[in-house]
Amino acid sequence: MVNVGVVGCGYWGPNLIRNFSNLKSSRVVSCADVKEDRLSHMKQLYPTIRATNDFREILKDPEIDAVIIATPVAQHYPVAKEALEAGKHVFVEKPLAQSVEEGKALVELAARLGRTLMVGHTFVFTAAVNKIKDLIWSGELGEIHYVASSRVNLGIFQEDINVVWDLAPHDISIMNYVLNSRPVSVSAVGQSYIRPGIEDVAFLTLKYPQAALANIHVSWLNPNKIRSTTVVGSKKMLVYDDISSLEKIRIYDKGVTMTPHYDTFGEFHLSYRYGDIMIPRLDDAEPLKTECQHFVDVIEKGVPSRSDGDHGLDVLLALETAGRSMRERGAEIAIEYPPRTESAK
Ligand SMILES: NC(=O)c1ccc[n+]([C@@H]2O[C@H](COP(=O)([O-])OP(=O)(O)OC[C@H]3O[C@@H](n4cnc5c(N)ncnc54)[C@H](O)[C@@H]3O)[C@@H](O)[C@H]2O)c1
Repeated sequence: MVNVGVVGCGYWGPNLIRNFSNLKSSRVVSCADVKEDRLSHMKQLYPTIRATNDFREILKDPEIDAVIIATPVAQHYPVAKEALEAGKHVFVEKPLAQSVEEGKALVELAARLGRTLMVGHTFVFTAAVNKIKDLIWSGELGEIHYVASSRVNLGIFQEDINVVWDLAPHDISIMNYVLNSRPVSVSAVGQSYIRPGIEDVAFLTLKYPQAALANIHVSWLNPNKIRSTTVVGSKKMLVYDDISSLEKIRIYDKGVTMTPHYDTFGEFHLSYRYGDIMIPRLDDAEPLKTECQHFVDVIEKGVPSRSDGDHGLDVLLALETAGRSMRERGAEIAIEYPPRTESAK
């Protein structure tokens, strides 16, 4: 049994409280928020959970094994640091921190103290994303040429971070996970149309090893809600629509091949293949439940983490590099990764 305390009971925190409360192997002992109305709401929903306006009470409680952090991004580092120093395991919402420097310090601290540090990259716990990973690694799609995603909607405008830090952690974590790789460079352009200095629209291009390209469009200024990822392989292609409830993934047996024999250079022929469309059945477990169970399993059984601090740091490196590129008007910038900590080897 892992006893947890949850810091931050705004929009997302209650989902974590619900899931950790419902697992057989974890229990929510207390929750913290600086806003009294959020605490009284939590007390109403969960009368047995202790509620406090000071997260340090959670850190001091010897009954608590792990701290779950669902505060705004600026609070991730200071709360996670104190929680690790208090000897707790830590689950921190995405993104891990608001800079690479902070993320690196957390990863090193967790490794030094032998505590579990996990980042809430929820999508790597979805059935759809895991199906895409299986399809890529079974070879069904062939060699991966490129991945393109759109995560756009009207709002919700954030006050403390731009749209890249708000939405792109999802796409970068998905791409790193399904490709089992990390981008070697990033170029990005973005614009702030509504509030000066906080980009609300951005286009990122990531280059992965073996020439795979990835493009990410994130926006708070779009008429429709779109959550779509297209993966184009040399054999097949797929479209993942996270908004669709029943047909999240469509695999298209489509492709283009160049006829191998021709007499002159100008004579080559392309043949287009228009085959069947397949819609795989997906498990409908709640991804957040799978994610919370994974955190407990990493702590209790030592299973390898799918979303540890190093994975979170990889995402921060791509985000920070995208920010530099935006300031340098879209320049392609190589990412330099620090050595992995012991936990990720
Ligand atoms: N994984 C996902 O799909 C997903 C989805 C939404 C949000 N998130 C992440 O969850 C986090 C929270 O997002 P949100 O939308 O719930 O924000 P929110 O602003 O609705 O909630 C944050 C809460 O934290 C509280 N808080 C701030 N500082 C605190 C402190 N020092 N101690 C205690 N409480 C404190 C605030 O009062 C607020 O109630 C963010 O990191 C966000 O990126 C993740």
